[in-house]
Amino acid sequence: MQNTEFKPVLGPYRAYDQRVAPAPDHELTRVGPGTPMGELQRRFWQPVCFSSQLTDLPRAVRILGEDLVAFRTKGGEVGILHKHCAHRGTSLEFGRIEEHGLRCCYHGWMFGCDGTVLETPGEPPNSRLKKAVFQGAYPVHEYHGLVHVYMGPPDMRPPFPEFDIFQIPGLKYYPSSVLHANNWLQSFENNMDPFHGQFLHTRVTQHFGDHYFVLPQVEWKVTEDGRGMYYVAMRRTDDNTLWARMFHVVFPNYVFVASLYDLLDEVPFFQRTFWARRVVPIDDENCTFFSWRLAAEEGEFAGGDVARNGWNSIDFDGQVEQSTYEAKQRFPGDWEAQTGQRSIAVHKLERLGTTDAGVVKLRNALRDMLAGKVPLPPEAASLGTNVPENTHSSNNVFKIRKLDDPVAEAEQTRNVSRLLAAAIVQADASPVAERRRIIVERLQAIEREYAR
Ligand code: FES
Ligand SMILES: [Fe+2]
Repeated sequence: MQNTEFKPVLGPYRAYDQRVAPAPDHELTRVGPGTPMGELQRRFWQPVCFSSQLTDLPRAVRILGEDLVAFRTKGGEVGILHKHCAHRGTSLEFGRIEEHGLRCCYHGWMFGCDGTVLETPGEPPNSRLKKAVFQGAYPVHEYHGLVHVYMGPPDMRPPFPEFDIFQIPGLKYYPSSVLHANNWLQSFENNMDPFHGQFLHTRVTQHFGDHYFVLPQVEWKVTEDGRGMYYVAMRRTDDNTLWARMFHVVFPNYVFVASLYDLLDEVPFFQRTFWARRVVPIDDENCTFFSWRLAAEEGEFAGGDVARNGWNSIDFDGQVEQSTYEAKQRFPGDWEAQTGQRSIAVHKLERLGTTDAGVVKLRNALRDMLAGKVPLPPEAASLGTNVPENTHSSNNVFKIRKLDDPVAEAEQTRNVSRLLAAAIVQADASPVAERRRIIVERLQAIEREYAR
């Protein structure tokens, strides 16, 4: 009998050795009911569709391996129910929306948003059946145009979380999504891999500006509370300019992306998140980025073409699936790179290098969370207690001269990177109204110190 155990390729023309692939990392990748990651994700409110998608027809949705149906009653209330009718299982996506609920097409049972059976029209008037039966229902919360669902244990339901970037006066929030035919983790961990920006988005395909051409000097850090991580990527864009891009993710699947447009002279420091997204598992082999594009006419949130944001559409290139096979090959973006890692990336097959340190840290931090080392909502200090959580993602452009000695230059870059991260993180303790001013002043002070 042939040996079909997994072995890595260890020489030229030895593909035969590795014709068997090991299994994916089920602990981090599986999201169905009862799986470790599936139950972790269920402890958090998750976006499931746009508010604008709840029309006069119900909408079938799939999330965390469960099939559900979302609808808005004629009275305006939103419900999310198990997709299959409690009577004999017909899909409620074919049901009829009425004033107070959703009526199944098959025998006319009507369900309220909380799963109560409101009517069983074929039963005799004295039937107690409708009192004894419930349709599965999950709590719903609409926020800035995205419908969220809580699918965790009922007694663990946290309040809906708030973040600083949703409390900025005058800002507009445009829902968008990107549909990915791959496991959620490879899309989420991509956010801790700043090096792909330089290759995938700049050298191989021209999605981003020339300021991404330079290979960054990067440091990654898991936050003190273990509930998120960030990196600071330092790039020298010219002899007098040092660009620091801070990128913050909050576990299990929040991503805050600082602007990908040109760096702004008028906002040199703390140009914050312009795309706030969640990497929501649909099932083990699909996920959806549900997001808001944050936009304003001028200042740090200016730029782009917000009208392009919508279902599977975002106003910068390299995100959604290319439309033809040839376009995928000629102009690959995040979709092609991430789905190209197999439908579920196999960690045992990876050969990790120095650029992958953030991905490794992220996976380990998620494992800590699964092991119960990090408090989850509603116990967690901020997420889920309605205290605005501060996000740290930002572009920051220092006017600091390049040093001739490469060792001294690398050290200067590292120092500025660490001072920047400390200044931004420490400002979490400042009053909300003062925070931005305090951060900018501290960053200006760092610039003054190194510009000398
Ligand atoms: S299957 Fe829904 S009412 Fe009969
Ligand atoms: Fe990317």
